[in-house]
Amino acid sequence: MKKTIFITGGAGFIGSHVVRLFVTKYPTYRIINIDKLTYAGNLENLKDIENESNYLFEKADIVDANVINNLFAKYKPDGVIHLAAESHVDRSISNPTEFIYTNIVGTVNLLNAARLIWEDNLQDKRFYHISTDEVYGSLGNEGLFTEETAYDPKSPYSAAKASSDHLVRAYNHTFKLPVVISNCSNNYGPNHFPEKLIPLAINNIKNMKPIPIYGKGENVRDWLYVIDHARAIDVIFHNGRDGETYNIGGNNEWTNIDLIKTLCDVMDKKLDRAPGTSASLITFVKDRAGHDLRYAIDSTKLMTNLGWKPSLQFEEGLEKTVDWYLTNEEWLKNIVSGNYQEYYKDMYGSR
Ligand code: NAD
Ligand code: TYD
Repeated sequence: MKKTIFITGGAGFIGSHVVRLFVTKYPTYRIINIDKLTYAGNLENLKDIENESNYLFEKADIVDANVINNLFAKYKPDGVIHLAAESHVDRSISNPTEFIYTNIVGTVNLLNAARLIWEDNLQDKRFYHISTDEVYGSLGNEGLFTEETAYDPKSPYSAAKASSDHLVRAYNHTFKLPVVISNCSNNYGPNHFPEKLIPLAINNIKNMKPIPIYGKGENVRDWLYVIDHARAIDVIFHNGRDGETYNIGGNNEWTNIDLIKTLCDVMDKKLDRAPGTSASLITFVKDRAGHDLRYAIDSTKLMTNLGWKPSLQFEEGLEKTVDWYLTNEEWLKNIVSGNYQEYYKDMYGSR
C-alpha cells in the first residue's frame, strides 16, 4: 500500500461519499474509516465498498484521546481527512455541549496524535480539516464569503467549528503541522440524514406530512451536490498547498421557500401527483433561534488554483437526489424508525 489515510466521520453523509471515492479511485491507498457511529453514522452508507481489500472500519470516539493515540500508533497514517463532527445547527441549539466535545476536543485529540507520530518526519504528511462556510457568520443581501472573510460564527455549531479551524491553523503555525482546511457551503444528495432541510422535506412530502419552513422561508443557502464536495476534497487533499484554506461552493443560491417549491414540483412529477399537491404541505413554523440570513461562497481560489468546478446543475442534482430517496426506501425507513421519531417530536411537535 502506498499510503494509509484516516477518514474520520466516514459513516456520515459527506464522509461516506469521500470514503467511496478514495477506496475506488486509489486502490493502492489503505483507507481507514474512524467513526463513533452516532445517530448520524450509518454503515449502510458504505455497503457497496465494505469488502474492498483497501478499506477498514474502526469504531472509535475521537473525544477519547487514548483510543485515538492507539489507532495512530497502530496504523501510522500518512494523512488524515477529518470530517467527524456533530453537524446539525438545530441540535446545537438544544444541546450545545456535545458539539464542544466532538468538534473541538475531538479535533485537538487528532491534531495531538498526528503531531506525536509525525514529529520526526513531516515529509508527505497531511492533516486535512473539513469545515463549513457557517464559520463566517451571516451575509446580508449582497457579497460572498472569501477565504479572507473574518470569522463571525453565530450558532453553537458554527462557533465550535470555527474554534476547531483556529486550532488547526495554530498547530500549523506553532508546530509546523502540515495542514489544509476547506470551508464548504450546504451539501445535498444521497445518504443525507433527514433532519436537514432537503431530505426532511423529501421524506415528509412522500408521506404527505407538513413541510416545516422556518420563519418566512427567506433565508438563503448556497447548495452543492455532495459528490462535487467529495471531488473537491480529493483535489485539495492531493494538490492543495500546506497551511492554505479553500472555500468550496455551488454558486447556487436559493431561498428556502423557492427551493422547497422546486422540490415539490419534482416530487409531484416523480410520484405522479397532481401539480400543487406537494406544495400544499408547506407550513410556516416558528423561526430558528439566531437564524443566519444568508450564506454564499466565492470558490474562485479553488477553481483558479486547483481547477475544480461543480459538475452538476442544481435541478439535475435535485432530481438525482429525489430518485435516490425514492429507490432507497429501506434506507430511509431504517433511519426514521427509533430515535428519529423522538427527535422529530421534540423539534416539530407531533404533526
Ligand atoms: P454527519 O452528521 O452526516 O456525519 C458526521 C459523522 O461523524 C457521523 O458518521 C458520526 O457518527 C461521526 N461522529 C460524530 N461524532 C463523532 C465522534 N465523537 N467520534 C467519531 N465519529 C463521530 O455530517 P456531514 O454532513 O457528513 O458533515 C461532515 C463534515 O463536513 C462535518 O465536519 C461538517 O461540519 C462538515 N460540513 C458539512 C456540510 C453539510 O452541508 N452537511 C457543509 C460543510 C461542511
Ligand atoms: P439545514 O439543512 O439545517 O442546514 P443549515 O442550517 O446548516 O444551513 O437548514 C437549511 C435551511 O433550511 C436553514 O435556513 C434552516 C431551514 N430549515 C427549515 O426551514 N425547516 C427545517 O425543517 C429545517 C431542518 C431547516
